[in-house]
Amino acid sequence: MDKQIEEKDLNMKINLYYDAENICHLTVMGEIESLCEEKYFLELIEEVKSKILHITFLDASILGNRIIESLYQLQQKDSLKLFILKAYLFSYLYSLGIQSKFITSKSLIENNTEKPYNTEKEDVKQFLEDIKERYGYDYTLYQIESIIRRIQACMLKENVKSFGQFRRAILQNEQLFEQLFLHFSVNTTEFFRNPEVFYEIRSKIVPYLSTYPHIKIWCAGCSTGQEPYSLAILLNETGLLKKTQIYATDINPYVIEEAKNGLYPLKSLEKNIKNYRQSGANGSFMDSFTVKGEYMEINDNLKEKILFFQHSLGGNGILNEFQLIMCRNVLIYFTPLLQRIVLKNFANSLDCNGFLVLGKSEGILQNNGHEFFNDFNKSYKLYKKIEK
Ligand SMILES: C[S@@+](CC[C@H](N)C(=O)[O-])C[C@H]1O[C@@H](n2cnc3c(N)ncnc32)[C@H](O)[C@@H]1O
Repeated sequence: MDKQIEEKDLNMKINLYYDAENICHLTVMGEIESLCEEKYFLELIEEVKSKILHITFLDASILGNRIIESLYQLQQKDSLKLFILKAYLFSYLYSLGIQSKFITSKSLIENNTEKPYNTEKEDVKQFLEDIKERYGYDYTLYQIESIIRRIQACMLKENVKSFGQFRRAILQNEQLFEQLFLHFSVNTTEFFRNPEVFYEIRSKIVPYLSTYPHIKIWCAGCSTGQEPYSLAILLNETGLLKKTQIYATDINPYVIEEAKNGLYPLKSLEKNIKNYRQSGANGSFMDSFTVKGEYMEINDNLKEKILFFQHSLGGNGILNEFQLIMCRNVLIYFTPLLQRIVLKNFANSLDCNGFLVLGKSEGILQNNGHEFFNDFNKSYKLYKKIEK
């Protein structure tokens, strides 16, 4: 039997067929984005779940919680094999203890004739201008050396030796651009990262925040959500969460979707708990989560307090009236000029006594940040807006 399931309302498409061994093969094309698409997929799985299932995701880079749960359960019963084309989804599922096979697309670029990895600075700068024009993402004020390293990593992965061909392919092929985009984005993060900073927030900034009837916090460059969720846990434990709204933003739409899911692998639990304790907390880290197989899901009362959305610090202007902005390990990728623009935007986004927290190896000296901020605790990179 070879059947194609198609619905006009859906952007994604699923092909389904049974092979000679009665294994049910599903090939999912497009992202599963809307609730209606998610429901459609889950109902289909429900119908065929008595069979051995082989599911291939061709385009999806991220999947919602309910789908993750159903895939996890099917794998527990040994009735599912997964095949994934997008590296992002592959590593995300892996982190959650869901096994899948990574299938690579044949390189989209052929005929390598130019000098290998010839990535001259001026050419790369022009390439970033072209990306800005074609896709609207502005990397022109990122540290060029770090961009070049990441372009080379992407060329290596795609097995392309010529920068010229790589550049043409990226500008012609949106899918390939997305792959590159993921390489541009260093998303490393963890719960209560640099716990001494959270200790300082708990002991010095929370008393200040508690004087406000409503608290607004912006976590900029939030990656997959561990940082804003750590803040939400801390505020919950100090009784402030009820009156708080956290905005959590990142340039990378995939990490934002992951953050919204709020699912994290249990295998990092030991490190999470160690950080949590060192941050001065004395509750139980796991009280904020529900364990689901090999992963844990952040509780709804914390999720509800965070608004996750895509936002670029380089382009989308300011959000405002915050009492606290956290932006750690993001400015290091920017040139001093962009750092200065962003710091000014932060100053304009804070209310008159607001705090700014930067990352361990970041500071405000190099970019004249003292025009906008005073040191509050220099060693922990805590700053206070200067009242004008
Ligand atoms: C290394 S992670 C830091 C995550 C978290 N703040 C922490 O310290 O654990 C850097 C994040 O900054 C984001 N980022 C890079 N450029 C950005 C921009 N222009 N606007 C917003 N986010 C950006 C990346 O996508 C990535 O998720």
